[in-house]
Amino acid sequence: MAGLSRRKMLVSGGALGALGALGVAAPAHARSLLAWTWAPSGSVAGSGAGADPRWVWDEEADPLVASLLDRGDVPMVNALLWNWTRNDQPLPAGLPEDLRAFIEKARQLPSWADSKKLEVAAEFNKSRGLYLNLLNGVGGGMLSTAIPKEARSVYYSKGGADMEDRVAKTSILGFAVGALNAYRPGGSCIVEAVKTRLVHAAVRHLLPQSPQWTGDVPISQEDMLVTWHTLPTYAMRELLAWKVPMSGADREAYLHVWQVTAHLLGIRDEYIPATWAAANAQSEEILPRNMGPTPEGVELTDILLGQLAEQTSPASLSRPLCNALARYLAGDQVADWDGIEREPVWGPLISTAWPALVKFREGLIPLPLVPEAAWVLDEAVRKYILFYLTKGQETKIEIPTINRPQ
Ligand code: HEM
Repeated sequence: MAGLSRRKMLVSGGALGALGALGVAAPAHARSLLAWTWAPSGSVAGSGAGADPRWVWDEEADPLVASLLDRGDVPMVNALLWNWTRNDQPLPAGLPEDLRAFIEKARQLPSWADSKKLEVAAEFNKSRGLYLNLLNGVGGGMLSTAIPKEARSVYYSKGGADMEDRVAKTSILGFAVGALNAYRPGGSCIVEAVKTRLVHAAVRHLLPQSPQWTGDVPISQEDMLVTWHTLPTYAMRELLAWKVPMSGADREAYLHVWQVTAHLLGIRDEYIPATWAAANAQSEEILPRNMGPTPEGVELTDILLGQLAEQTSPASLSRPLCNALARYLAGDQVADWDGIEREPVWGPLISTAWPALVKFREGLIPLPLVPEAAWVLDEAVRKYILFYLTKGQETKIEIPTINRPQ
């Protein structure tokens, strides 16, 4: 693969050491045959057939988007949906009738959505924005490249050829979820989640046509759950590990905003965990068997960290700082799979500076106890968030019509 050094390949394939925060111990393929045992009684639906989510995709969106692609309607649809941005905005005139009917249904909040919890979540996202953007952006990004099916899907789909745009597009949903008005009428979370559901349906149709693609139809329900756990489940575990003070209501509300988002992304209610305990149990069941190294994941990680470095700090510090931050966030196991270099200077500094910064921000320690390095990190994280906020404003989520150009 272009741009992939032999050393990086070796790093990614070797040194599968200690367990990371997510309990990942051995390569995905070694565990891929394990059965699905997570009970639907732990889901927001409270019951379900218990079907193995590896073999369930999106039965409403998939045939519809396949048909739009086959009919050649997608460019027209993308143009019409370009200015559809607000949760309360009527759909534009001229959409194909089957798509209009689908979106009108898909944009409805589930009956179990709780507007009070969504308001609490919005406040929580605001007050913890810096941590959450770092965890969901950089941390989640590093975890996603260590999910072989996701890394390969991203690499061989259209967006794989332009990762800066791809990250900017993905961050649109991330920022929408974290916005104060996420699910209010003037917010955009419903719109971006429904658009993403359409994008995923397109990828399921397009990727199997790629000569580079091997394996089953991508983005199964299990695949989506795996990615979902790299977002809220992972973030909550890290916040707890960093001892960020949170009320029970905050934790529940943060789970809730992601439950609603999962529903809007087309994850079935019978798979969406109802509680943090159920989420952790599901994560432990499915993450280990879906994580491991791939050459594509290593290359994507390298690109992502290169971009992060460019956006954040002075050139002399940038890449080692970003490597160390990424390793700190992802844990050694995942960092090794991703081929992230160990940084002898920044590595140990970050492990002490970051927790100190968090404690200072939470009013738990006084300023003199915060090491200098913490402010470099603080600044880097802010620049990173700002960069993708700005980039996200320049682009929109659109349904792809092609795979990655050869
Ligand atoms: C696109 C979020 C799960 C593969 C997107 C986009 C967002 C997003 C916001 C639109 C950005 C864009 O068009 O580039 C999510 C979330 C997920 C999830 C929140 C789970 C909770 C997955 C999974 C896979 C996947 C499990 C693969 C196994 C892709 C691909 C595209 C995409 C390949 C882009 C298609 C292209 O570049 O043309 N996703 N995703 N996603 N997603 Fe996901």
